[in-house]
Amino acid sequence: MAVTVFHLHGKSPDSEGVSVEVAYTQSLDELRKIIASKLSIVLPNTISFHRSASPETATSDLQVLDSVELIIKERSVAILISGKKVRPVPGPTGGIPFIGGYSEIYPDFLGNYQRLLSKYGHMVHVSYLGKSVYLTDDPDCAGVVLSEGEFYSKEIGDNHPLFPLKSSLPNGLFTSDSSNPSWSTSHKFMMTAMGAKAMRNYVRTMDHTANRLIKCFDEILNKGDSVNAFFWGLRAAGQTIGEVGVGMDLKMLDSADSQIANIFQLIGRNLGLAQTLFRKGSFYRALPNPERREQKMMETQVISFVDTQSERILKESQRDMPIDEAAVSTSSLLDFMLHATDEQGRKMDVGLVHENIVTFLGAGQVTTSCALSWLWFCLATFPTQARKLYASLIAAGLRKDKEITAEELGKLEYLDWFIKEMQRLYNPAFQPTRQAHKDLIMPGGYLVPKGSQVTVALHSVMINPEHWKDPLTFDPERWGTEEVRKRHKYAYIPFAAGGRGCIGFNFALQEIKIVLARVVLNFQIENTTEGAVIYDPDFSLYRPLNFTMRLHKQVEVEEIITETKSSAKAGENDEKKTSAPQPAVGARALPHFWAVHASNNGTCEGMAGDLAAKARHLGFTDVHVVRLADSPLADSSQTAAIADENSNFFVICVSTYNGEPPDSALEFSDMLDGEIKKGNSKRFDGINYCVFGAGNTQWGTTFQAFPKKVDANLAALGGNRIFEKGTGDSNADQDADFTEWSTRLCAATAANFGVDVTGGAGKAGANALTTAPAHSTDDVKIQFSARASVSEDEAKSFLHQPPVKGFLKATLTENVELVDHDSPIPRGMRLITFGVPDASFTYREGDHLEVFPENDPAVVERLLVALNFVADAVFEVKEVGTDANPTSLAAFLLDRGQKITLRDLLLYYADLAGPIQRSSLLLLASFLPADEKFKKLREMLEAAGAPSAAPDPAIAKTTRSFADLITSQPLLAQALNLQKLLIILRATQPRRYSVASSPLVDPHAVKLCVGVEDIRVADHQGLCSGFLARGKVGSVVWVRARSSQESFHLPKEDDVPVVMVAAGTGISAFLGFLEHRNAQGFKVQEHGGKSPFRLYYGTSYHDMPSLRKLIRAYADDGTVLVEAAYSEEDAPRRFAQHILLRDALQIWSDISNGGHVYVCGSATRVGDGVRQSLMNIAEQVGGEADPVAWLAGLKKEGRYSEDVFG
Ligand SMILES: Cc1cc2nc3c(=O)[nH]c(=O)nc-3n(C[C@H](O)[C@H](O)[C@H](O)COP(=O)(O)OP(=O)(O)OC[C@H]3O[C@@H](n4cnc5c(N)ncnc54)[C@H](O)[C@@H]3O)c2cc1C
Ligand code: HEM
Ligand SMILES: Cc1cc2nc3c(=O)[nH]c(=O)nc-3n(C[C@H](O)[C@H](O)[C@H](O)COP(=O)(O)O)c2cc1C
Repeated sequence: MAVTVFHLHGKSPDSEGVSVEVAYTQSLDELRKIIASKLSIVLPNTISFHRSASPETATSDLQVLDSVELIIKERSVAILISGKKVRPVPGPTGGIPFIGGYSEIYPDFLGNYQRLLSKYGHMVHVSYLGKSVYLTDDPDCAGVVLSEGEFYSKEIGDNHPLFPLKSSLPNGLFTSDSSNPSWSTSHKFMMTAMGAKAMRNYVRTMDHTANRLIKCFDEILNKGDSVNAFFWGLRAAGQTIGEVGVGMDLKMLDSADSQIANIFQLIGRNLGLAQTLFRKGSFYRALPNPERREQKMMETQVISFVDTQSERILKESQRDMPIDEAAVSTSSLLDFMLHATDEQGRKMDVGLVHENIVTFLGAGQVTTSCALSWLWFCLATFPTQARKLYASLIAAGLRKDKEITAEELGKLEYLDWFIKEMQRLYNPAFQPTRQAHKDLIMPGGYLVPKGSQVTVALHSVMINPEHWKDPLTFDPERWGTEEVRKRHKYAYIPFAAGGRGCIGFNFALQEIKIVLARVVLNFQIENTTEGAVIYDPDFSLYRPLNFTMRLHKQVEVEEIITETKSSAKAGENDEKKTSAPQPAVGARALPHFWAVHASNNGTCEGMAGDLAAKARHLGFTDVHVVRLADSPLADSSQTAAIADENSNFFVICVSTYNGEPPDSALEFSDMLDGEIKKGNSKRFDGINYCVFGAGNTQWGTTFQAFPKKVDANLAALGGNRIFEKGTGDSNADQDADFTEWSTRLCAATAANFGVDVTGGAGKAGANALTTAPAHSTDDVKIQFSARASVSEDEAKSFLHQPPVKGFLKATLTENVELVDHDSPIPRGMRLITFGVPDASFTYREGDHLEVFPENDPAVVERLLVALNFVADAVFEVKEVGTDANPTSLAAFLLDRGQKITLRDLLLYYADLAGPIQRSSLLLLASFLPADEKFKKLREMLEAAGAPSAAPDPAIAKTTRSFADLITSQPLLAQALNLQKLLIILRATQPRRYSVASSPLVDPHAVKLCVGVEDIRVADHQGLCSGFLARGKVGSVVWVRARSSQESFHLPKEDDVPVVMVAAGTGISAFLGFLEHRNAQGFKVQEHGGKSPFRLYYGTSYHDMPSLRKLIRAYADDGTVLVEAAYSEEDAPRRFAQHILLRDALQIWSDISNGGHVYVCGSATRVGDGVRQSLMNIAEQVGGEADPVAWLAGLKKEGRYSEDVFG
């Protein structure tokens, strides 16, 4: 006897080994059992012993210890399982955050189970939507998983596929946990009732039902109709379980026009909802959701059905009897449940009877109807085997007009084989799942953590090539071979196995044998499906979604026998070589897809364009990108036309401006208010929608104001919100927010409509959730002109026209730096003056000026070289495909329809400096050639383009702007041509500035006060502010005057008190106000004027002498009263809102006297802070009980106006 330490190879014998006393007398198998129990190795015979070696030693190099004598000599012994090192279960990692491996499984779960198992081995781990799933196709593993006991049992946690059904039926068979004592009670009673002996009592009933089906089929045959096989499976199976289950004729087989009984419609719908709920994950189920509501409604109806049947049966007989007697002498399963008593005289309680009978009705109908559909499919697909089947029935003495007996059924060998082969390839059940009780080491060396749910992928087990020869060949005769008879015990498990295996398998087999025999005795089946047969991804069982069949009279017996003989002679019996078709996942008809936007600066428009491309990528064909104001949602006369819940899908991207909708959505917003007032709960009835809000948290209380309103109001007005609202924050990484949300939306959409996103049988090609919509360069058609044929004027014609309608040429006349040279302020501030000679140019004080920026010429020259572009080449865009984003440069140029040189394009119109969207990075990746040398670059772009909130900082830095990216990645420049560039790049957007002047001084001169980041401090200078800072006197710039909100102008008269609050560049608008008042000659009271005119200004430092001088001059001549807060110098730190509070009494008196408050500056600095100060003043000085309402009132009266920017 010696003590030896046993450890898993790769683990430390000292800290992770187990000590075992080994005796010479022990056998290796005894030793294996001891070690297995100590290390939770589920199958001892998978253990092999080896001499301990360093963890890195390859398993093939380990020396085997194959006798106790050898083992006993070692101090420590390494263990391998099935010859492998013990390791976590492999599987796809990463994936989209939160969604994870969703697209690895859905919607083609069967294909994907198979694909993953072939790729990763016999166990696979996938995480998605908060679920963690383990799969296996190994019979050894399946045997362990399905054997209820020490290692696993059926515990239906929220990762379990049956979880959504469990809430309806927590105690009955099928959906109860094994640890629930009700399961044992139900199992004890029902095992006997479902046994082979009890089932023989129902042969006659089943045969009678089958004959009724044949009558319906005769009717159909006479009409020459094609019918959906599954619905006839439902009728046949429903009728049978109706008779056997509750002793009731549910009248589903009276004629070819009979309907499916309501009870089965309810059960079928409930199963569909359960599958949908499972797929949507626990986060969705935790929310109140329409599917669960519908389930609850249906539960009530089902219970009332069972109550009525129970009352009827109890009226007929009250006599209780022991289980064994009840199993053979009661007339239905419900009758049995109501009267059977156990050895102690106990009965099933009423609640349990309810749950079990519903389970039996459901399990009895849907499973067998799928099985019947697939049997009919096999008859149509394998006519040679179908004929053999017919011949075998005739040979066994079965006839059309003769009752089938239980004895005959037991002898129909070929029928049995035919059914087995159908179940091997097309079994209705596909994912029995069990929970691990502890950390386990599975055959193959897989480590399964405690609490994991492990799914036995039944189809994959039953076509596992290690256990089945020609696994995909439909060959009933294989069942007669020795090889198959000696198969692994768990290689064929259509009814699962173990304590929680199918209790209804005798019932099921008896029923489908009878129906199949009856059908084959009477008919041949033709497959009339248009296109391929596909399966339903939304159903908890494997069922053909679209298989239609036509019936033909069976060819008489004599002819068949002759035909079989002659074909055997001619050696034509080669049907075994035909592979059984594998139905792909079923797709639904896709609705019209509307990508709707309301946008001031193009962000939401760009998002809508991205969504449209993604939708097309998923297979949607009718896709529109429209402004909210032009969409059918805005026009009540169109709602009826689009209000069919299956035919429309609106994804709405909208932003907010100071709490208000973007300009183009003002009317829509009013319309919503009106409808809400009317309480019109039908306005958006039948409309499927979801909303993404672009916003900025700097705006505090009005963050996401308009998107929230649209989302809530559409729901209140009857719309059907089919996906949660998305929230973007441009103060952080809005692109990440949008990419992550839109990817989840696409995943959910794909799942809802059965679109295969994984590159399987669907339209989408490679994973549609993570790859970019494939734009072909044909999407953009361009035409180059020979330079010699284009005059200088023509080449520059683009530049003679405004970049966007309404822009006018301005000449820069003055550009002054307001910040001292040696100031520590990290920003410059420029006072820039333009002359705008055009006669049409007008503006008011407080208005905005839009400026069209230009790229830095040095950057443009570098890019031209990197891209190998001929700078002066002239081209025009002739055509742009629908997939191109509406904000792309391609779309912009097409709209302009003029010639341009490449240099001018990059200089004036291409957004080279702004951050690149993730969708553009993915597009760039998709444009790279397949060549190996681009692999690393592609991976980098894909990683940076993934919908992650936190991209790798190193990558993020080089991919911040297009210019950065091209400069840092010469390989990328090589792969780009002009067409690709035009698709990737977005057109430059103009920037807005508050005017710092008054037209009263000079209507054709306009000033701006522009903040400029110091490039030495911020690693990115702003495009427009940088451009303006560089601006030389005399340079020409495109500008356009834009009116601000109506209330952001000065009162006409000087008898209204005015309070202005500004921070940073917010001073701009008030420089204009000061100039205006000064030009009007209005003075403050102290200088003989009629009312106060106050400026509260907060800035970091007061080293802006020229600005101070300017403002001081206005104060000195009585135009304004100035109070300044220097936040970085004052102690304690003070901002404008703090000095506002100091002057609370004065401010309140001004407002009470009809005063007007104006606020301007960045949202973080003056937004919420100023509002809060004013409300404090109103509450504490003015005694206002509801300061929020007070401020809202002031705003409504036009006496509180903000011009706040980011
Ligand atoms: C109604 C209104 C009034 C306004 N009034 C004024 C005003 O009076 N004065 C004023 O100065 N501004 C004003 N603004 C702000 C102004 O419109 C611009 O937003 C501001 O000048 C910055 O624009 P830009 O083109 O210089 O910077 P952008 O290029 O738009 O960049 C914005 C910021 O992002 C950073 N950045 C740029 N590119 C990248 C990149 N690739 N990666 C990472 N970071 C990057 C820059 O460093 C900068 O901080 C106003 C805005 C509005 C809406
Ligand atoms: C071809 C038809 C059928 C197939 C392939 C099938 C398959 C299965 C499988 C795989 C399970 C295990 C489920 C799991 O572990 O999650 C199961 C359980 C069950 N089946 Fe079937 N079944 C069929 C028909 C039927 C019929 C006709 C009935 C009833 C009349 C029935 C009643 C049940 C019940 C009650 C359970 C749960 C047993 C328990 O919880 O212990 N099944 N079936
Ligand atoms: C002047 C101005 C006011 C804004 N007001 C708000 C606001 O009140 N709430 C909000 O969430 N975002 C606000 N934002 C942020 C914008 O909604 C955000 O930048 C959005 O991405 C713009 O989208 P668009 O380009 O499609 O209009 C404001 C932005 C600006 C420039």
